[in-house]
Amino acid sequence: MNFVSIIEQRRDGGVHSPEGLTFLANGAADGSIPAYQLSAWLMAAYLNPLTLDETADLTRAMAESGETLDLAGLPKPWVDKHSTGGVGDKSTLVAMPVLAACGLTMVKMSGRGLGLTGGTIDKLSSVDGLRLSLSPAEMVAQAREIGIVLTGQSTELAPADKALYELRDVTGTVTSIPLIASSILCKKLAGGAEFITFDVKCGSGGLVHCLYSAQELAYWLQEIGDRLGLKVTAKISDMSQPLGGASGNDLEVQEAQMVLYGDSLDPAQARFSEFARRLCAHTLAFALNIHEDEARGQVDAVLSDGRAAAKWEQWLTAQGAAPGRVPPKPAPVVLDLLAERDFWLVRQDAAEIGRAVLELGGGRKTKEDRIDPRVGVCVHRPVGSRFSEGEPFATIHAADEDAAARAAKSLQAAIEFSNEPVAEAPLFLSP
Ligand code: URA
Repeated sequence: MNFVSIIEQRRDGGVHSPEGLTFLANGAADGSIPAYQLSAWLMAAYLNPLTLDETADLTRAMAESGETLDLAGLPKPWVDKHSTGGVGDKSTLVAMPVLAACGLTMVKMSGRGLGLTGGTIDKLSSVDGLRLSLSPAEMVAQAREIGIVLTGQSTELAPADKALYELRDVTGTVTSIPLIASSILCKKLAGGAEFITFDVKCGSGGLVHCLYSAQELAYWLQEIGDRLGLKVTAKISDMSQPLGGASGNDLEVQEAQMVLYGDSLDPAQARFSEFARRLCAHTLAFALNIHEDEARGQVDAVLSDGRAAAKWEQWLTAQGAAPGRVPPKPAPVVLDLLAERDFWLVRQDAAEIGRAVLELGGGRKTKEDRIDPRVGVCVHRPVGSRFSEGEPFATIHAADEDAAARAAKSLQAAIEFSNEPVAEAPLFLSP
């Protein structure tokens, strides 16, 4: 097969055959199609989007470009939960142990963050000793033993996606819905789970910024998932403000632990706890085919009787961490920003807060950057809350005084106040 004719077919709005897309995926995976030709095809596919059928064929071909996990023999249902990524989104850290404690087999591959949204692997990298690159055989063995496993993206699973994603990142072709859907779903297909909950984040801090695009992405994930025999449910959630209080790697691990261990929470942390509980209940109801109220009862029970916290500890020690609760990694400088008068909080922009965390060293601007796990920004109440003069509305955790002062300046643009009461933002934008 000649790849130039596949590029021309896409350029001219033709329809690819499954064989053509398999040729593309295998050529991306083994390097036999050069990057300049793949880049040309990606731009043509950005301008002339793939149909649902073509996207399903591409997804299958990318999943089959490497190894696939065989979960046969593990207790069912096999479940994964995936977020399209957002600022302060640490819900995987709560959902995995909660759902495993409820009896589901949780198997997950997660990504590293690039840009504003932190990846789960970066958050967990702040836990000393934790091993986050497990082989497919290790993943299956751990899932069999304790019902929960999470690893970074393995080069053995869906290697075509790795090659194509790296090129999309540098060719202005990330934001194509069919390319996003196939990239996400091929890893799910290769990862072996049968039930998948997608949390499609919508707002300035997410991959998509408006409700229309979020609905379109949710629809594509569901449609392609159906065509590939996966059981997919998608919820759309608010990403106009950070999820919960903390944005920054270790700060988010600590906040997730506060929910898991039943600590007392400030209003922003309580909003995150409610979000995680609802997402878990939705996933459990979907996977067990039970009513969401019954599922919520099970979720609340494992959180209040210590089973979720015990599963968290069992999970982390199985992957190499020291036993017990993960100790915090305090930043050298902690700076509270105080309300100068009484006000209602109108806006705490997720993208701008994500950018402040990035500037503090909590994220990666290039693939080579090293992350400082200690730094980040905490907000204390959600939009719509009232503050009195002198109360802290945000706290900066920084490596030094200069970085803290710069972050304080950036946060002035990110956070807006009003003398009038303001409505709270909903957690979910879909039923
Ligand atoms: N996450 C992925 O894995 N792929 C995309 O294209 C976008 C988000």
